[in-house]
Amino acid sequence: MLIKKNISLKHLNTFGMDVKAKEFVSVESELDLAKVLAINSSNLLVLGGGSNMLLTEDPDALVLHINIKGIEVVSIFKNNIRVKVAAGENWHDFVSWSLKKNYGGIENLSLIPGNVGTAPIQNIGAYGVELKDVFISCEAMDIKTQEQRTFVKDDCNFGYRNSIFKEELKDKYIITSVIFELSTLHHKLKKNYGTIENELKNVRINNPTIQDISKAVISIRNSKLPNPKIIGNSGSFFKNPIISIERFKVLTNKFPKIPHYKFTESSVKVPAGWLIEVAGFKGKRIGNYGVHDKQALVLVNYGNASGKDILELSKKIQEAILIIFDIVLESEVNIL
Ligand code: EPU
Repeated sequence: MLIKKNISLKHLNTFGMDVKAKEFVSVESELDLAKVLAINSSNLLVLGGGSNMLLTEDPDALVLHINIKGIEVVSIFKNNIRVKVAAGENWHDFVSWSLKKNYGGIENLSLIPGNVGTAPIQNIGAYGVELKDVFISCEAMDIKTQEQRTFVKDDCNFGYRNSIFKEELKDKYIITSVIFELSTLHHKLKKNYGTIENELKNVRINNPTIQDISKAVISIRNSKLPNPKIIGNSGSFFKNPIISIERFKVLTNKFPKIPHYKFTESSVKVPAGWLIEVAGFKGKRIGNYGVHDKQALVLVNYGNASGKDILELSKKIQEAILIIFDIVLESEVNIL
């Protein structure tokens, strides 16, 4: 465990921002993590898969890369198992591992960038499934005291792209491992999300397996979302806004085609991608950066754009959405 100086973070964030860490350390065990935190518990930038952050300048902090690995089955029941996965495991590698063993529950979450340890922070979700659906508990280290604490599902206040780790406990704990419950028999397939059904029909699969669902999700994602290894991006840059039914009714007078999903009895979720497309930003390219041409919710770095460029573009989009729809778009990505 060595503290290195002046390390480029270009390959450690999916936007591919070439910023430099003055000090950088990668930890491979909980013990190492505790040692680093005992010496330096303030002014930290904790880095998992770097898939949900926009780095706008050289971080003036010790960059702490969580690289703790390991997957182990911890309990076996009749139709389920519980698996403990270390924070530094790549999310999709874990999904692939589960599919090889024929363990079900996370197939809809195939190909989401990022690591297991950061997945609970924003309760990752896609195609009708959220992390909270398979989450049992996580272990997290208190940054100040280095004590380990277990958080069960009810402790985490999971919401749409949200959890206690983004709110009250922001910057207070580092998740070191997560326990998931996956099915071994009688998998409950979630295939109702419109595009999954279409994709399965296209390949003429009537009785899909969890592996088929994963393939369908991978195919949909590949057709809409840019591969961060080729084009820098951070997935959805904004959250889908949640607005009141009253507000929505007013909007439908002017925009009768506005898509929406019921959120609660009194509110609906509106796809930000649709709003951004209608506002004319889809596919817009400004030099080295822009808005993805197949999914307007994704901002992209085509080459050597800076985090400040992307931030400026995101502000322009927010201003336009406010003027056109009177809706406040919140970024989903952490801006640092
Ligand atoms: N749409 C447009 N234009 C666009 C993009 C979307 O009109 O450019 C409209 C379409 O009407 C479409 C609807 O938006 O029917 C929804 O689009 P999509 O199914 O692609 O989903 P999304 O709401 O844009 C959310 C998540 C994605 C997740 C997909 C699939 C958020 C912020 N994003 O996107 O998550 O993969 O659903 O479940 O909730 C991520 O978080 O990084 C991410 C990619």
